[in-house]
Amino acid sequence: MEVSGAVTPGQVSFLLGFFPVFIAWIYSEILEYRKYSSPTKVHSDVNLVELGNEMIKEDDRAVLLEGGLSKSSSAKFQNASVRANLFRFMTMDESFLLENRAILRAMSEFGLTLAYFYICDRTNLFSESKKNYSRDLFLFLYILLIIASAMTSLKKHNDKSAFSGKSILYLNRHQTEEWKGWMQVLFLMYHYFAATEIYNAIRVFIAAYVWMTGFGNFSYYYIRKDFSLARFAQMMWRLNFFVAFCCIVLNNDYMLYYICPMHTLFTLMVYGALGICNKYNEIASVMAVKIISCFLVVILIWEVPGVFDLIWTPFTFLFGYKDADPSKANLPLLHEWHFRSGLDRYIWIIGMIYAYYHPTVERWMERLEESETKMRLSIKTIFVTVCLVVAYLWYEYIYKLDKITYNKFHPYTSWIPITAYICLRNFTQQLRSSSLTLFAWLGKVTLETYISQIHIWLRSGVPNSQPKWLLCFIPDYPLLNFLLTTAIYVLISYRIFDLTNSLKAAFVPAKDNKRLLHNFIAGAVVSLCLYSISWVLLHIPAVLG
Ligand SMILES: *[C@@H]1O[C@H](CO)[C@@H](O)[C@H](O)[C@H]1NC(C)=O
Ligand SMILES: *[C@@H]1O[C@H](CO)[C@@H](O)[C@H](O)[C@H]1NC(C)=O
Repeated sequence: MEVSGAVTPGQVSFLLGFFPVFIAWIYSEILEYRKYSSPTKVHSDVNLVELGNEMIKEDDRAVLLEGGLSKSSSAKFQNASVRANLFRFMTMDESFLLENRAILRAMSEFGLTLAYFYICDRTNLFSESKKNYSRDLFLFLYILLIIASAMTSLKKHNDKSAFSGKSILYLNRHQTEEWKGWMQVLFLMYHYFAATEIYNAIRVFIAAYVWMTGFGNFSYYYIRKDFSLARFAQMMWRLNFFVAFCCIVLNNDYMLYYICPMHTLFTLMVYGALGICNKYNEIASVMAVKIISCFLVVILIWEVPGVFDLIWTPFTFLFGYKDADPSKANLPLLHEWHFRSGLDRYIWIIGMIYAYYHPTVERWMERLEESETKMRLSIKTIFVTVCLVVAYLWYEYIYKLDKITYNKFHPYTSWIPITAYICLRNFTQQLRSSSLTLFAWLGKVTLETYISQIHIWLRSGVPNSQPKWLLCFIPDYPLLNFLLTTAIYVLISYRIFDLTNSLKAAFVPAKDNKRLLHNFIAGAVVSLCLYSISWVLLHIPAVLG
């Protein structure tokens, strides 16, 4: 097995951190197994102290049996001090291992998954094949999926509206997840088959995700008013935990996964916009000032020449990107960040505005549904016609432009197709209340499928390279290979989604800021130690030689 590229201190640190956890987990499973398989042994050499310990362990086991990483087990994990926990871990304290078996298992599984990523992408254990586009096959597969999904997973929901209690749902959760799902499938297939002819459509989909970031986060912070540190940390964990490990293990820049920095930035902007003076959010004029300020900030940063570089140059270590492709290696380091973040610089604010007017629109729609049939039908017909005409004009005059010209117009026009979609998706009550669960299921893991595709579905081969190849398990059978790699890839993406959440529950406590801070410091110290040791290890041969 050949490995491409030199080993970095980050990768060594990962291994140094992973092995103790893995060994601890195996040991905890053995302890657990022993406890089950030899109940007589416990009684044979009874001594009161041991019996007492055993009973505590029984309790723990009950807790763990109740559902893996249940709340109480992670609460227990969080009750002792961080230092004591680290000490117990290093001394392989048996009761500690048994208590935290589920967490250790989750950590080990996560580490093994990353090892799989490395093997698929950076070694020549598996081969690679070329991308191949056929419009026929592309559309065939996509339509097949839609039909399969419609036949097996079409579902009618009758959830109540959060605002009025009536069952009119405007952009409910099922709908946004379904929307994310079908866009994500096209987005991924676009990468897999190198379907460059739908480039412009893909730009609109990314804009729609950013729109949802503005919409979802605005609604959340506006209604729940939860600006706590814990909530903030959990959000950052959700967005960046997995990608951070991918960057370390695969030695990539953060910007290779540009969706992550982009969503993080716009989430932070929404958080900031609503969090500053959040006591006055209810006042309409304050909200208007906030939204206008958002526009002004964006105009200042992206439209005034020089400001972007001034602000982001200090963060080049985080947002810089140097493509492995020699033809693109001469671009400035911040070029990619400027391009990606610039494309969708306004749409998150549009999402916020839609979220703000959401209750009003919902009230209108309720009234419309209650009005007499003739009136309702004529209003709806006019509405749909207008939407279709506008969408058509957009398609004819903007969408059809070539990629470079299109990108120039994109930031100012992407709201048109998005608005048209929202209106059309909603124009009858039946359409509104039904969704395709299969797509919603895929929509839940968009972040994970986005990151994983580069390494275990496609193949980038070397650090910071765009995935130009396909991962190939079954040479000469492209369709069978597609089936197999896709199945593994989707499964792993789902596991990572679950693992990210379980580990979040274990390490980012929801209500205890002091513990959160301690965990954070402990994490930083452990990482720093591992990194220093790795650095020294890697430099010893150079010194000796
Ligand atoms: C959008 O869809 C929802 C159904 O989920 C519906 O309740 C709402 O009225 C629609 N909104 C618009 C603007 O058509
Ligand atoms: C905020 O936006 C991020 C990024 O898109 C998303 O993952 C998260 O779920 C959003 N939060 C809410 C409460 O909708």
